[in-house]
Amino acid sequence: MSEKWLTGTVIENRHWTETLFSLRVEGAALGFEAGQFVRIALDTIEGNAGSRVARAFSFVNPPQDPVLEFYGVVVPEGPLSPRLARLRAGDALQVAANPAGFLVLREVPDAQTLWLVSTGTGLAPFLSMLRTDELWKRFRNVVLVHAVRYARELTYRELIGKTPARYVSFVSRESAPGSLAGRIPAAIADGRLEAAAGLELAPGNSHVMLCGNPQMLKDATAALVQRGMRKHRRRAPGHITVESFW
Ligand SMILES: Cc1cc2nc3c(=O)[nH]c(=O)nc-3n(C[C@H](O)[C@H](O)[C@H](O)COP(=O)(O)OP(=O)(O)OC[C@H]3O[C@@H](n4cnc5c(N)ncnc54)[C@H](O)[C@@H]3O)c2cc1C
Ligand SMILES: NC(=O)c1ccc[n+]([C@@H]2O[C@H](COP(=O)([O-])OP(=O)(O)OC[C@H]3O[C@@H](n4cnc5c(N)ncnc54)[C@H](OP(=O)(O)O)[C@@H]3O)[C@@H](O)[C@H]2O)c1
Repeated sequence: MSEKWLTGTVIENRHWTETLFSLRVEGAALGFEAGQFVRIALDTIEGNAGSRVARAFSFVNPPQDPVLEFYGVVVPEGPLSPRLARLRAGDALQVAANPAGFLVLREVPDAQTLWLVSTGTGLAPFLSMLRTDELWKRFRNVVLVHAVRYARELTYRELIGKTPARYVSFVSRESAPGSLAGRIPAAIADGRLEAAAGLELAPGNSHVMLCGNPQMLKDATAALVQRGMRKHRRRAPGHITVESFW
């Protein structure tokens, strides 16, 4: 069965840094849940669907917003991301018609505090969730954690600042006032993350959603397991939900 595609039109390609960009796309409105992703694509030979290069991207926009938004990083040798970064207003972007993914609030059990923990562009699905009513109805505290290499990569600050989320940032490759140094797993282990958020991170009060670099997911999960937390499964409820970007 052939996959169904919608042709959207880029209305903006914002460049935050030389490698980070945000695409806004209209004309391809889709039903999805905050936290999900969809495959987006470009044809190598224009008009030839056989030459299509597709990759998964998380929705940044909340479901109620018909303009789609995607947050990307240029992987220099990657087949798709450098081309996405070069798109301009008016260009076409193919969007698959079947959003998917389990990094959604529906899959998360109740907890006092929801920790949304990301590296790099792994921030994207949480930006969508932060703008849903469900999040604020269900959780007393929401902590958004964003870890990047350089301070200039701490994007979407204005949007985040308009939400009630507690924001904790990490900058790993330079010193940056207001951000924690080093990596997320070490800060979970030594209590620096809790101190920065002003909240306890324990199995009795927290659920943690992790998104981004697969090595961070692994190391952070190990640090959380040390605190008595475990991966969440439908049949065996736990405290950790993950989505790997590669
Ligand atoms: C469920 C899911 C959701 C995703 N959502 C996003 C998103 O919202 N934004 C986004 O930029 N990417 C996202 N990705 C990754 C995306 O699908 C592509 O892999 C990425 O855009 C690079 O594409 P490429 O064709 O240039 O290189 P690829 O051949 O796909 O990747 C080459 C290598 O680049 C590295 N890499 C890939 N993606 C990233 C990344 N995001 N950050 C840092 N290094 C990376 C990895 O080492 C990977 O092996 C997601 C992936 C999955 C599985
Ligand atoms: N960011 C850039 O300046 C840049 C520039 C050009 C191209 N790119 C492309 O983008 C890719 C990387 O993008 P990115 O910087 O967004 O993602 P990233 O490499 O995943 O780094 C984002 C953050 O995750 C941290 N991290 C990495 N491994 C971790 C682990 N095991 N546990 C906990 N934290 C971990 C990094 O810390 P550390 O710093 O300690 O690793 C950094 O703070 C590269 O492969 C490259 O292709 C990036």
